[in-house]
Amino acid sequence: MNPRAKLSLVGAGPGDPELITLKGINTLKSADVILYDALVNPKLLEYAPQAKKIFVGKRKGFHRYTQDEINQKIVDNAYEHGHVVRLKGGDPFVFGRGSEEIDYVENYGLHTDIIPGISSSIAVPSSIGIPLTKRGVSESFWVITGCTSDRQLSMDVRLAAQSSATVVILMGMHKLDQITTVFKELGKGETPAAVIQNGTMDNQRSGVGTINDIEEIVKLNKLSSPAIIILGDVVSEAASTKELSQKLELHLAS
Ligand SMILES: C[S@@+](CC[C@H](N)C(=O)[O-])C[C@H]1O[C@@H](n2cnc3c(N)ncnc32)[C@H](O)[C@@H]1O
Repeated sequence: MNPRAKLSLVGAGPGDPELITLKGINTLKSADVILYDALVNPKLLEYAPQAKKIFVGKRKGFHRYTQDEINQKIVDNAYEHGHVVRLKGGDPFVFGRGSEEIDYVENYGLHTDIIPGISSSIAVPSSIGIPLTKRGVSESFWVITGCTSDRQLSMDVRLAAQSSATVVILMGMHKLDQITTVFKELGKGETPAAVIQNGTMDNQRSGVGTINDIEEIVKLNKLSSPAIIILGDVVSEAASTKELSQKLELHLAS
């Protein structure tokens, strides 16, 4: 085994290459191999000219690695080359399968470091001025996956919709109709809603409306994955600031 063999699980942040941590950058600089996902900004790889880079994300025209294949690739590369960095979008432990990778490699006796990242679930709303909590408006927020491992809408969406929390849904674009149905069934059709695609990046686009019309807005603006859905009164709180409403109008017009 290579004496440097170890795994660092690094959160790359939400997309803007400046939204990675300093610790994340320093870890990239000491990598021998980087395995990176589709949501990672490729500019971050420039911090590691010395490292071998392997794309293991899901993208048209590329081999689709299964999670088992990725796990084994981490181990093989660590044994052969030394320090493997697993670079993941956002934070590795927010719908990132980070703990599965750690469980696997630790069975092979590899040491693991975890470098947290700024999750898109928090950074993307924040970057366009939507506060996930606001005194007197929202006391909490839920971050939910729109699509569970068996491809169903998470049952938690209905539970969250019954609360007064801000609801943030990742990987939910293919289930938007089911999500809005849940809210409408609970009499919450007027709840403000926002969808932000490619948040914090140059190609960011967004649409804002209510549960009743967000699907139409998404269609009109041709919004698609990767996108975050934000449901709750805080959305209109943000839109009430002049700068943001102008921004949102621009997005709606584009
Ligand atoms: C597999 S999850 C990974 C989440 C990641 N670990 C995090 O903490 O941000 C991928 C989903 O996160 C959301 N996402 C990640 N980056 C995004 C971005 N820059 N803009 C909008 N949504 C994003 C989308 O819903 C996407 O389908």
